[in-house]
Amino acid sequence: MKKLLLALVCCAVSTSVLAAADITRGAELAKKYNCASCHGADYKTPIDPSYPKLAGQHADYLAHALRSYKRGNKSISGRNNPIMAGMAQPLSDQDMADISVYLQSLPGPLVVRK
Ligand code: HEC
Repeated sequence: MKKLLLALVCCAVSTSVLAAADITRGAELAKKYNCASCHGADYKTPIDPSYPKLAGQHADYLAHALRSYKRGNKSISGRNNPIMAGMAQPLSDQDMADISVYLQSLPGPLVVRK
């Protein structure tokens, strides 16, 4: 029960962070860090097939991925990728939330088929 409560609190907190996210600031940050140089100018035509498409992806997923790259190997929920680890280091939680809502707002090919 305690774990469930904790999970609910975490959800509420992370949702409110995204709710306060700023698409315009996210666009500026993506430009500043030149994320498009690998993920593609429209974020759906990456320069290599192993580089993920980001346009239209869920913001909560993207923000979670960015936090995981920043954590790296230190945590079992971290992601270990040398390129993205470097990209994520300078980003604050607010930066990641802003960039993520910006990327989510872009038209992309990622869809849920029913
Ligand atoms: C030098 C090339 C490069 C740059 C620049 C770059 N990325 Fe990435 N990105 C990658 C690669 C390669 C991966 C896949 C890594 C892996 O396999 O985990 C990736 C993965 C990601 C993912 C995970 C997507 C998913 O579907 O799991 C996100 C989110 C992401 N990048 C966001 C960004 C953001 C935001 C920036 C700018 C701050 C950025 N990237 C800049 C190469 C790059």
